[in-house]
Amino acid sequence: MSSQERLQKVMAAAGIGSRRKCEAIIEAGRVKVNGVRATLGDRVDTERDQVTVDGILLEPEVEKRYLLLNKPAGYITTLKDTRGRRTVMELIHEKERLFPVGRLDRDTRGLLLLTNDGYLAHRLMHPSHGIEKTYVVKTVGALSPRGLAMLRKGVSLEEGTTAPAKVRVLERKGERCVLELTIHEGKKRQVRRMCAAVGLEVEDLLRTRMGPLNLRGLEEGRYRALDAVEINRLLEVEE
Ligand code: URA
Repeated sequence: MSSQERLQKVMAAAGIGSRRKCEAIIEAGRVKVNGVRATLGDRVDTERDQVTVDGILLEPEVEKRYLLLNKPAGYITTLKDTRGRRTVMELIHEKERLFPVGRLDRDTRGLLLLTNDGYLAHRLMHPSHGIEKTYVVKTVGALSPRGLAMLRKGVSLEEGTTAPAKVRVLERKGERCVLELTIHEGKKRQVRRMCAAVGLEVEDLLRTRMGPLNLRGLEEGRYRALDAVEINRLLEVEE
């Protein structure tokens, strides 16, 4: 026999967030039950009803997995490559079907999240979401005060101006410098293009942080499961 449960309870069990947060999402009109906009107080049949949040189907029966990989250079961030290049999936040995959240270029190293939680992945990648990502960038070229100010203010790229970045100069040695750059957008090759726009060539690019997650203690090429605290922090990342 199937059972009727409160909608926010079903959503919370599917990993959308706390019950309070789920209630707010229902009230914001983002939830549909069998294609009809849900209201607070609705109950659902967990076996028969189709619940979507922002158009994404809830799959409560799938155990959610969250892995943090310290990606080495030389691997592309796709599930499969038709041209035989190495993919990050070759580094992951798990039975579930997981997928990377967002992309790192082949030669970018560092923090990559993999999951089977489509809802979380969608939220974290949504441009309006703005989860912060921090990169340590080794550059060649002279970074002028004007270049630094431009990075901080926003640089003009083909598709528009980037949002202001947080920038710290960690090291300067002649024509080389090491920068720490924090951005919350996810434009293609964004950091490399921002650096190019101020006359810097990127020699090495490492992502060290994404929202509440960092690489501490994780060797390059290795991965680990997120712990409960990290998962909760990710789920609670504000929209
Ligand atoms: N910015 C880039 O240019 N490349 C990445 O891989 C990530 C951010």
